Amino acid sequence: VVRGTPMPPYRHLFDARQGAPRPTGEGRSLVAFLQALGRGRRDVWAEWRSREPKIPPAPAADAALLTRGEELYRLHCATCHGAAGDGRGEAAPLLLFPPRDFTAGLYRFRSTPAGSPPADADLFRAITLGGGTGAAMPHFDWLPPRDRWALVLRLKEFSPALRGGGLRAPGGGGEGGEGAAAPRVRAGGGEGMRARGRAMWDNLGCAACHGAAGEGMDATPEGPPWTDAAGAPVPRATDLRDPCAYRGGASDAAIERVLRWGTAGAMPAFEPPAGGSWDPLIVFLRGLSRAASGAATSPGTPGRR
Ligand code: HEC
Ligand code: HEC
Repeated sequence: VVRGTPMPPYRHLFDARQGAPRPTGEGRSLVAFLQALGRGRRDVWAEWRSREPKIPPAPAADAALLTRGEELYRLHCATCHGAAGDGRGEAAPLLLFPPRDFTAGLYRFRSTPAGSPPADADLFRAITLGGGTGAAMPHFDWLPPRDRWALVLRLKEFSPALRGGGLRAPGGGGEGGEGAAAPRVRAGGGEGMRARGRAMWDNLGCAACHGAAGEGMDATPEGPPWTDAAGAPVPRATDLRDPCAYRGGASDAAIERVLRWGTAGAMPAFEPPAGGSWDPLIVFLRGLSRAASGAATSPGTPGRR
């Protein structure tokens, strides 16, 4: 509730019994409904998250850029990630997915092997895209690229392992580097391709963690203990039917990165397939999301057909 406005509080949508107020089932359904409004016509968010963000050249990592990063961090990030970057911001206890602790320098969505530092571009992308539905991490694509680079520099300063190395865009900071904005359209591919993708899905055992229809699974006390490299719990294996729920982005390149490098802990890394191409599996995953959005007006819209 914003104080001084006519917006009334809706206390019954929260359960305050365990210390911090937690949304009730009804509260969560209401949020899911609000997020889904208008998406039945054209899901611009799903389209946006399915595109690989452009990584512009990095500016010089000087004192001015770091000062700007500190200022932006205090303004936009500290409430969740903590003033000290330790993931213990004021809002952290309210969130299902724990905000990242930046001091360890261990990230999940990377283009580098598990346990090694992320590329600067990986952080730039995470800041640009946010965490998608389910995670509270907002997207900051509206900040100018220089400001997003300033934040990357600020995050690296929190970690002894990443501090002091300057900034590097992929391709040595030259022209744009990895992934221009345009997606490689892979929605088609035909039945043969889809069938090969389905076989990869079955042979690699994806359904064991993501569910038979790719609907995602919650971590359970009996199930595998999903944690990331930093030991933080991973509460869910992603619902692969909804591009907005892909927390590392839903572009072809993002999916390839996750398959190749894993997320350090919960999602394993896979050997490149025979023939070297993940395309059939990606086509299959894209088919899952089309099936979901064809069945209902919009994924996750309660009470609508
Ligand atoms: C409303 C709370 C909130 C705010 C504000 C917020 N974040 Fe996050 N952030 C999160 C949560 C929650 C996660 C973990 C998401 C997940 O598990 O998928 C996260 C994850 C991240 C990650 C990690 C991605 C990875 O690969 O592990 C980065 C980087 C990040 N945030 C940067 C920032 C920056 C920079 C800002 C400010 C510009 C910011 N966040 C603001 C909640 C927040
Ligand atoms: C051992 C369990 C497990 C298996 C097996 C597994 N996954 Fe995952 N996967 C996860 C978990 C848990 C996450 C969420 C990771 C995180 O947030 O750190 C995930 C994340 C992902 C993501 C990234 C989604 C995002 O949020 O950005 C994709 C894509 C994915 N898995 C596809 C697959 C495919 C395809 C297969 C089979 C080749 C597979 N997974 C096998 C557990 C698994």
